[in-house]
Amino acid sequence: MDKDTLTIIDNRTNQTYMIPIHRGTIRAMDLRQIKTGPEDFGLMTYDPAYMNTAACQSAVTFLDGEKGILRYRGYPIEQLAEHCSYLEVAYLLIFGELPTMEELLAWEREIGQHTMIHENVKKFMDGFHHDAHPMGILISTVAALSTFYPDSHRIQDAASRRHQVVRLIGKLPTVAAYAYRHRLGRPYVYPDPELSYTKNYMNMLWKMTEPKYAANPVLARALEVLFILHADHEQNCSTSTMRAVGSSNADPFATMAGAIAALSGPLHGGANEEVLLMLDEIGTVSNIPGFIAQVKEGKRKLMGFGHRVYKNYDPRARIIKKVAEEVFEVTGRNPKIDIALALERIALSDEYFIKRKLYPNVDFYSGIIYEAMGFTPDQFTVLFAIPRTAGWLAQWQELMQDPDRKIARPRQVYVGEERREFVPITARSAAEPAKVAR
Ligand code: SDX
Repeated sequence: MDKDTLTIIDNRTNQTYMIPIHRGTIRAMDLRQIKTGPEDFGLMTYDPAYMNTAACQSAVTFLDGEKGILRYRGYPIEQLAEHCSYLEVAYLLIFGELPTMEELLAWEREIGQHTMIHENVKKFMDGFHHDAHPMGILISTVAALSTFYPDSHRIQDAASRRHQVVRLIGKLPTVAAYAYRHRLGRPYVYPDPELSYTKNYMNMLWKMTEPKYAANPVLARALEVLFILHADHEQNCSTSTMRAVGSSNADPFATMAGAIAALSGPLHGGANEEVLLMLDEIGTVSNIPGFIAQVKEGKRKLMGFGHRVYKNYDPRARIIKKVAEEVFEVTGRNPKIDIALALERIALSDEYFIKRKLYPNVDFYSGIIYEAMGFTPDQFTVLFAIPRTAGWLAQWQELMQDPDRKIARPRQVYVGEERREFVPITARSAAEPAKVAR
């Protein structure tokens, strides 16, 4: 008997089935043969939120949640964060190998040539209310960009796909910076191709009337590291959305607008903003025990804690803590770090969090750094979306070349009404409240 198989005995029929095991999984479609009779549709798996379902095979990112391991294309995140620039890591994610010096310079030049956006995009963005949330602006504007680049619909054409990848990586900081300036009522600052990716982003955010923006090198490096840490993370909610929308052959702009929308949720990328609001609410270290009590009563979540995959310390959070100290050398210490450190210390010694394996994740400390750098909390998730663009697009490219690719269309377990006859409105009575779907 082939040892890489599962023997399933269906006790309803006493039938035995041999299901092949491949890379630690069985193909769900292999279960469909398990039936009670010819009319039976066959077995499916029921897996809300895909807690135990691999939706794809991917070579981009590897996570080991128990050991707290994160690798991009096999390279440990700690080494990439220490030695690389963000665009170098973006190249690695997209093309699968670290670039040579020549390849990196060409890549930087190519991205730099795609940082401008059509002047009409400004008119589109000016339509937003002065206090529009920047994530709402980002989602809408990225989707709207597909109307400026109709060639992006040629998703079967590898050269066109590559062109859109470069456009999106190049233009995201510009759109994000324009959203920031719109919020403040400041004039938009054009990209400066002479500056690095992060220094140009800082230029478009913070340049005022000086002839040439000079970014603080410590803050620029901190932003590079933060961008590297946020660049990809396997099949998280927003990447799975990117794959689901991309599977319909939608263009990459519309597809990525969907991913940004998923990231905006407070349980996902929106958590970094929620952490700052939570720390503001706690206010002082003395209020921590009371807040923790509310969490343990199930009334609140400790935002920035917990993870679907990491059941150990998120390796990114460990690195971010170190970056915080370097940033504070320049900006001055953000006192909220002391509340966060005390919160972590208390939580990690409390049985409620230990039992549930809840540790700080990437969002717990990042917002404290961003606030120290001068960002307002509503900008924090934008700072997640910019670097994640490379990861989303690497995963999208992988999907578009996957021989297993089909349009994503999960099944369901129907639990609704059986067939019933139409009732004329004159004969209807109000349904019992319990029966009305909320
Ligand atoms: C990101 O997937 C990724 O890779 C995402 C990400 C990426 O890079 O793309 O890493 C980025 O999204 C990080 C996560 C940011 N979100 C937050 O910090 C929000 C707070 N965290 C939680 O909402 C939660 O931990 C999730 C959403 C992150 C994970 O949720 P799961 O895996 O569905 O876990 P769960 O809700 O089933 O929780 C298991 C238990 C529950 O308690 P019991 O019902 O067993 O009693 O742990 C509890 C939960 O109530 N729990 C928390 C908690 N997170 C989980 N209790 C208090 N505070 C929390 N933060």
